[in-house]
Amino acid sequence: MKGRGVYIKTFGCQMNEHDTERMLGILSTRGFVEVEEPKKADIIIFNTCAIREKAEQKFLSSLGRLKHIKNKKSNLKIIVAGCSAQIQGINLLKNMPFIDYVIGPDNIDKLESIIESKYEKPKLFLSENPDISIKELPALRRDSVKAWINIIYGCNNYCAYCVVPYTRGRERSRPAESIINEVKFLAQQGYKEITLLGQNVNSYRDGDIDFPLLLEKLNNIEGIERIRFVTSHPKDLSKKLVNTMKDCEKVCEHIHLPLQAGSNKILKLMNRKYTYEEYIDKIFWLREAIPNISITSDIIVGFPQELDEDFEKNILALKEIQFDGIFAFKFSARPGTVASKLEGKIPESVKSKRLTEVLNLQDEITERKNKIYENAIHDVLIEDKNEEGVTIGRTRTNKIVKINRDLLKGQTVKVKIVKSNRHSLEGELIQ
Ligand code: 5AD
Ligand code: SF4
Repeated sequence: MKGRGVYIKTFGCQMNEHDTERMLGILSTRGFVEVEEPKKADIIIFNTCAIREKAEQKFLSSLGRLKHIKNKKSNLKIIVAGCSAQIQGINLLKNMPFIDYVIGPDNIDKLESIIESKYEKPKLFLSENPDISIKELPALRRDSVKAWINIIYGCNNYCAYCVVPYTRGRERSRPAESIINEVKFLAQQGYKEITLLGQNVNSYRDGDIDFPLLLEKLNNIEGIERIRFVTSHPKDLSKKLVNTMKDCEKVCEHIHLPLQAGSNKILKLMNRKYTYEEYIDKIFWLREAIPNISITSDIIVGFPQELDEDFEKNILALKEIQFDGIFAFKFSARPGTVASKLEGKIPESVKSKRLTEVLNLQDEITERKNKIYENAIHDVLIEDKNEEGVTIGRTRTNKIVKINRDLLKGQTVKVKIVKSNRHSLEGELIQ
């Protein structure tokens, strides 16, 4: 018999993508199968993001469209999960009474009871759940080569702009043994690459096991070929971690290290707890230890009180550091955060102009950095085919490589890069 259907739509970051996999894991053990259309579903879940206002608007408009489906199918359950669920809570139920349950990211385990209809009330599951880090929730992973693994939940940093400490609660590290067992299990299933997830993986700690030691332990697991991690907070990036990255052959030569701003005045207002000079020191350590490392970053433009001279420091920083790529965002005031109450708001038109300037400059830099790859030989892990049927893989430095050959997913092959583009490389298989 075909199971009941679940339609799930995910917004936001990798953490949310993986929460979706874990929700699907819970549902699949109870006979649910994923469906592609909301109207075919018995449960609809929106796993939402609150990081910027635009992300919230996006899900609210899609959510509104579900009302007519619910009117036609009374036993349909509509669940709003994720960071926006946590923040908006009761207001979601008030504004959209057709929603059945609202569950924050710490409460995805409540799905078990929701589907067994144990709860008529309450409809809100928002409290911080200290046990989420030790709960072994099965994940139904969408990929068979690369897997995400949570290692640390929540965040204690309170960057002035960021809503995450309010949506995902305090920092809690998952027991190392549980992580190691999951990775061993994934290796047995044929997974080749793992990405360790957390808002700030560098502050991972379970007793004597800190993040570098965890990496060392995972590096010894047979079958896994590549280890990645996101995200690192610059203030917690230690020399010990850099040396571990250098020494552990499976840890890839890539780091995502959000700078956020080049001006010390803005970094202080953001409560980032490092100066630009300290950040540069760490870039130096990384490049000295791992010369071919690729470094990517996040930049926020238009933070309150960002004068032209502060913004100019972003430009200087990009020129000096030469990132392999960046994500750049216009500052978005999030309810409850310190930055939302700061004076000196920057007009939208100025934010847009600054964003364009940053992105245009970085495009040139990325293109130049990718050019260096031409004619070099790289190990490429084959991931999939893209929409045009071209085989896609990645270098250890996380660059996408297109290869004009049919190749088996999960294989690592030697590839000569023949052409570089802004967002990808093109390669030929070496026999
Ligand atoms: N406005 C703009 N960008 C933000 N980010 C986080 N919060 C905000 C905000 N309120 C960006 C940061 C972070 C990335 C995930 O999103 O650059 O590193
Ligand atoms: Fe947000 Fe800062 Fe925590 Fe990252 S480190 S999740 S930006 S508060």
